[in-house]
Amino acid sequence: MPPLRLIDGTLVKQGAEAHVYKSTFLYPNVPCLIKVRPTKPYRHATLDMRLTKHRCISEARLLNRCRSMGVLCPTVYFVDEKRGEIIMEWIEGPSVRDFLHNYIDDASDHGKDENKAIDVQLDALMENIGQTIGKLHDIDTIHGDLTTSNLMLKPRESPGTQVLDTADTSLANSDVVLIDFGLGQVSSSDEDKAVDLYVLERAFLSTHPRATRLFDIIIDSYKRNCLGSSVVLRRLQEVRLRGRKKSMVG
Ligand SMILES: Nc1ncnc2c1ncn2[C@@H]1O[C@H](COP(=O)(O)OP(=O)(O)O)[C@@H](O)[C@H]1O
Ligand SMILES: [Mg+2]
Repeated sequence: MPPLRLIDGTLVKQGAEAHVYKSTFLYPNVPCLIKVRPTKPYRHATLDMRLTKHRCISEARLLNRCRSMGVLCPTVYFVDEKRGEIIMEWIEGPSVRDFLHNYIDDASDHGKDENKAIDVQLDALMENIGQTIGKLHDIDTIHGDLTTSNLMLKPRESPGTQVLDTADTSLANSDVVLIDFGLGQVSSSDEDKAVDLYVLERAFLSTHPRATRLFDIIIDSYKRNCLGSSVVLRRLQEVRLRGRKKSMVG
């Protein structure tokens, strides 16, 4: 294994699979994210290195594949597969998870008219998410961990756009960006696509009670934006049934 390198950056998250840092790339004004897969001391060293290398290359390839085929995700700046590191574009968030929490909670303090306006904005965001996932599946890419934390919002690039603030109502001007392809794969299987949607559905339902209505909009948009959607959605019904049976059995 190559010698450990001290990362010059701020730790964003220390997960079981990866440590994530915010740093800069080449220039001090270009923020980046460094995703490092740490060694697992309980695993055989050679096997560990091979797995780390494989996962790192696989994630970077999927990011490049999506980007080149028009699905928004961070640009890969540099890959050091031996060290298990990917350096990529920093997305200035927030995640859809944080956004929904703040936005829906803020909404409860507002009057009826304002709430209506907020609902329209949220619907637009859901429409956008459905479209993004539809596109992802159309290029036969499975995300593998579609949670609301792995969907981020990025203000559409135009001169003067600032970081999206959760109190902001210009959702229509933000793009949905997919991150974290660590469990992703290239696959045309309807079952894999249905499971992707099922994972997102579970994530939505546990994010916020009001999110149930929102997920329906995602599905509706997916239907319109993904060529093979009807077969995948039929499959989703089966996956849901299986999920329910499993939770009954415990
Ligand atoms: N390109 C990025 N720009 C900004 N923040 C990111 C980026 N990628 C990941 N993050 C942040 O780091 C967290 C963990 O990264 P992620 O790739 O999802 O790894 P994990 O497998 O640990 O979930 C994300 O939930 C998000 O908050
Ligand atoms: Mg993640």
